Amino acid sequence: MTEHVRLGVNVDHVATVRNARDGDSPDPARIARLAIEAGADGVTAHLREDRRHIRDADVERLMALGAPLNFEMAATPEMLAIALRAKPHAACLVPEKREERTTEGGLDVVGQKGLVAPVVKELVAAGIRVSLFVEPDAEALDQAELMGAPVVELHTGSWCEAIATGEGARAEREFKRLADAAAYAAKLGLEVHAGHGLDYASAETIAGLPAVAELNIGHFLVGEALAIGFPEAVRTMKAAIARGRRRAAA
Ligand code: PXP
Repeated sequence: MTEHVRLGVNVDHVATVRNARDGDSPDPARIARLAIEAGADGVTAHLREDRRHIRDADVERLMALGAPLNFEMAATPEMLAIALRAKPHAACLVPEKREERTTEGGLDVVGQKGLVAPVVKELVAAGIRVSLFVEPDAEALDQAELMGAPVVELHTGSWCEAIATGEGARAEREFKRLADAAAYAAKLGLEVHAGHGLDYASAETIAGLPAVAELNIGHFLVGEALAIGFPEAVRTMKAAIARGRRRAAA
């Protein structure tokens, strides 16, 4: 178990607020820099086909920060070309439907392996650390390993939703699924990340899973930033994650 669980800060929703007025403020690159200065270990941004939040120019400006950029992308020729040009530290392949509000469900790596596998291969060959955003299911993890992806990001959305709606038994079941999947992925030799819908409490809990090496968090931090400022939200999140890890190690 690593001593430290990394925090990747997702700045998509900073861009969502900016785009509500089509101007330049708030600037995702400025907020990303503040997040790094406050202790975030990297920045995550999703360039969607419809450019609804992050824009092409944001990707260049985020790269210019010099911090590790985790580029979330659909497995399409357009996004592959952009990733190969930008050469981010990491690329996370996610499913993308035009009508969804946010990324719903993990990547169908089994059903779409013909589409996903070549993209993984090209990114890996370019030296970009590839992760696949998947549901916590053994079949998806087996497929990720077969495709040669070094990392999986487990989708925590169902667990977080069950917590939010007060469905205690379902939340317990979903957490067990995540814990089992994390342990299984580690056994396959995959690095394990997790994300979607996490807040301070759920991040603290999941940081206690020994296989988890990184959490990617956006929406909750942007909401917290309105109340306490982005740097303080990042510091509070880092402290929650560290607490969860320390407790598991004790
Ligand atoms: N990880 C992935 C792959 C995602 O698609 C998202 C949502 O953009 C996140 C993490 C962050 O989710 P949230 O904004 O709910 O924290």
